[in-house]
Amino acid sequence: MDRYGVFGNPIGHSKSPQIHRLFAEQTGQSLSYEPLLAPQDDFPGFAREFFSHGLGANVTVPFKEQAFRLADQLSERAQRAGAVNTLKKLDDGTLLGDNTDGIGLVRDLLDNAGVALQGKRILLLGAGGAVRGVLEPLLVQRPAELVIANRTLSKAQQLASEFAELGPLRAAAFDQLTGSFDVIINGTSASLGGALPPLNESLVRAGETFCYDMMYGAERTPFCAWAEGLGALARDGLGMLVEQAAAAFELWRGVRPESAGVLAQLRSQLTG
Ligand SMILES: NC(=O)c1ccc[n+]([C@@H]2O[C@H](COP(=O)([O-])OP(=O)(O)OC[C@H]3O[C@@H](n4cnc5c(N)ncnc54)[C@H](OP(=O)(O)O)[C@@H]3O)[C@@H](O)[C@H]2O)c1
Repeated sequence: MDRYGVFGNPIGHSKSPQIHRLFAEQTGQSLSYEPLLAPQDDFPGFAREFFSHGLGANVTVPFKEQAFRLADQLSERAQRAGAVNTLKKLDDGTLLGDNTDGIGLVRDLLDNAGVALQGKRILLLGAGGAVRGVLEPLLVQRPAELVIANRTLSKAQQLASEFAELGPLRAAAFDQLTGSFDVIINGTSASLGGALPPLNESLVRAGETFCYDMMYGAERTPFCAWAEGLGALARDGLGMLVEQAAAAFELWRGVRPESAGVLAQLRSQLTG
């Protein structure tokens, strides 16, 4: 049986095993996919041991940067992201590192939510690993402007200067934001603690602005609840999770799974 898995610590909560099992069933691929609790103090050793027989793995918190360093070759998007969420063992035994988080977000927005990005004014909240990973795929969509706002302004400025050559990008502090946006994407981890970044209500146009929270959960996230309270459309990051998995599955198996049914199944389990 071809072996795959997901490295993380903790890993018990991961939905990736279920997603990949559903993809395998749907596409008639014979494979196993298991949660892999990697030790904090020896991720490289644990990963190399897995790859003595395994063919591919996803990587989640807190190992994406270590996986970046472990890979023998990197896709261009992984190189830009500075992080790897997908490893694939190549025929010669070396490891290819890719990052499918950004394409996962863009596919969920474009294909599943039907939100156009080209020519739009986009606000991206946060400047951590998730935001770094989505900057290039968002800029490829040719927005009119992409503004990164972060609590620690210097981190947003650093990202804006690193990615400036790819499109119309600038950094701002939350209290420097002016005007409204067509799309607002929350890539902060504020929702994890039930918090909301300090956002002015005038950033949203009721009925027009589309708000996306990379976080997801059984309940509405604080950011989605804030957006809906202002009359905006809102969506959480469950579709991003499924789409980044679909892109990883395609890289490993050469078959693109259909994601809509899997997303619907996960959503109904989550909301129970
Ligand atoms: N759906 C998916 O597939 C998917 C994939 C990847 C990530 N995510 C989600 O994306 C989020 C960010 O992940 P990450 O890996 O980028 O985390 P990270 O590297 O730790 O970055 C966290 C970011 O959140 C900001 N932040 C934290 N608490 C805040 C608060 N109370 N108010 C304002 N800003 C706050 C931080 O600002 P400072 O710089 O000022 O500290 C930083 O910019 C998480 O919720 C994660 O679950 C989802």
